[in-house]
Amino acid sequence: MSKNLIVGNWKMNPESLKEAQKLFNSIKSGKSDFVVCPPFVYLSSLKGKLGAQNCFYEDKGAYTGEVSASMLKNLGCEYVIIGHSERRQYFKEDNEMVNKKIKKALSLGLKPIVCIGETQQEREEEKTDQIIQDEIMYGLEGIPATKVPIIAYEPIWAIGTGNACDVEEAQRMGLLIRKIISKTYNLSVSKKLCLLYGGSANSTNASGYLNEAGFNGLLVGGASLKADEFNKIINA
Ligand code: PGA
Repeated sequence: MSKNLIVGNWKMNPESLKEAQKLFNSIKSGKSDFVVCPPFVYLSSLKGKLGAQNCFYEDKGAYTGEVSASMLKNLGCEYVIIGHSERRQYFKEDNEMVNKKIKKALSLGLKPIVCIGETQQEREEEKTDQIIQDEIMYGLEGIPATKVPIIAYEPIWAIGTGNACDVEEAQRMGLLIRKIISKTYNLSVSKKLCLLYGGSANSTNASGYLNEAGFNGLLVGGASLKADEFNKIINA
């Protein structure tokens, strides 16, 4: 059995490099493997298992404000979050862009963590399963079975709200995602899939997702900014 993977998504925090270094240095190895995804500007100053929160799909050129996957690779970055709901919502990323970014990251040997999930409205309208199906189908289009990325199921209504998804509901979604992967690829790819849960994950609810709902790890936002809390999650 491989270890669980706990990924800290710091989002646009903290405000200074000093704080970033302090937080990073307070994280201790534990039962699970961990990866920290700080803002781009801190990546080269932190030493450890790192991921970026986004990347662009072109290698270089006139794309003001963008950071390429190859730059991240050259910096020693190992993971990259792709298609986070905040990117989709505020920066208009769609499944087609997500697909291009995943392909670029994979071609360079980066490990993409691809985020999928439904909004509160989609959930109320009972569109959840369709949204998940589309995000996987279009997001992973053309990606071979040997390169299926890490998938993070992050119900958007649970992100940053303190209203985490029920363990039973998360389990149902986990099974649905594995079923879609199994149909798209095959059963063995689905079994091997590294599936994370994200959305108000904390040290209290972590164990439910990891030990009951069948997830292989967590994508942690708010709780990754508190070293004590993040350390507890790593040992959940
Ligand atoms: P949260 O964020 O843990 O603060 O809900 C998770 C995420 O957005 O990845």
